[in-house]
Amino acid sequence: MFEIKENFSLKNYNSFGVDVKTRYYTECSSVEELSDFIRLQKEKNLPLFILGGGSNVLFTGDFEGYVVRPAIKGIEVISENENDIQLKVGAGEDWDDFVEYCVKQNWGGIENLSLIPGNAGTCPIQNIGAYGVEVKDVIVDVETLCISTLKTYRFKNEECKFGYRDSIFKRKLKGTQIITHVTFNLKKQPVFKLNYGNLTEELNRHDKVNLQSIRKAVIDIRNSKLPKPEEIGNAGSFFKNPVIEKSKANDLMILFADMPSYDQGEGKIKIPAGWLIEKAGWKGKRIGNVGVHEKQSLVLVNYGNATGSEILHLARNIQQSIIVLFDIELDIEVNIV
Ligand code: EPU
Repeated sequence: MFEIKENFSLKNYNSFGVDVKTRYYTECSSVEELSDFIRLQKEKNLPLFILGGGSNVLFTGDFEGYVVRPAIKGIEVISENENDIQLKVGAGEDWDDFVEYCVKQNWGGIENLSLIPGNAGTCPIQNIGAYGVEVKDVIVDVETLCISTLKTYRFKNEECKFGYRDSIFKRKLKGTQIITHVTFNLKKQPVFKLNYGNLTEELNRHDKVNLQSIRKAVIDIRNSKLPKPEEIGNAGSFFKNPVIEKSKANDLMILFADMPSYDQGEGKIKIPAGWLIEKAGWKGKRIGNVGVHEKQSLVLVNYGNATGSEILHLARNIQQSIIVLFDIELDIEVNIV
């Protein structure tokens, strides 16, 4: 049975390390417990927030309601043949522990997604991605508990409407489902994806290219660029990389010849937000308790006792200056609560 804690600090439950309290906090380790808890929450008629690993959320104040963490564990093999293996994973499993486990078994597909903070259950929501791989590439289906009907559903990959840092769970179904399990399809004869950025270069330091060395290379690159949340509070990329019209990108390239750009097809170009923010002079800037990371401008950091509002204020100032300088709107990737 779940235990409900009152006036509970979420400081250790969000990677920004913002010190906010929730009126009630609980963890549920099965679908049945989650259903029982939702029934109770409905009787009390207070707001509900579902917290995963807390690595993509910014709390801007205390939460006057119930915060629940699905803590469903387990990695279960549901089918396999000589090429593929399908694993059903509980939403509360730590994402990187799962990646490490698969790499050890020599099952390929998620090694490029090493060291991403968060849980298995939240990875589909924003379709986590890094080094040329997105988690949608390996997701078979996502199981949920519907908050209003308390029925369980299974969304096949196509039904999740995955896009760049996007899915149906961020849009039409936002706040309506609790993800309980995710099933992944991994490869026993892995095909490596090495063509993103400096991954190949980093792999040159290793004797062999295999899942272990790719995982190590990704971890080393991330550690060299991204602040560790245990040391400096942050939520990874704070903004999404904007996708703009090709004609607009061409105009900007006349003014900024060094602007990196990635063709997305259909007349669209993706521009790295980190580059825009750096160009606007924000890289490494510190304002009181908050700042822009010195090695990766996409990452906003909490140097100590920052409030969520301070972080959000900095984000708004950055967005404003990117509009003024480039006429580009930056979308916030992090979930603001
Ligand atoms: N850049 C700058 N200045 C900066 C940061 C980046 O000029 O301060 C330039 C780089 O030189 C490079 C380009 O921007 O030319 C892209 O940089 P990088 O390869 O570091 O990746 P990113 O676009 O900044 C994305 C993801 C990251 C992911 C990396 C690697 C988004 C919003 N972010 O960042 O995801 O780790 O690619 O695949 O798509 C996250 O979501 O939390 C995250 C860290």
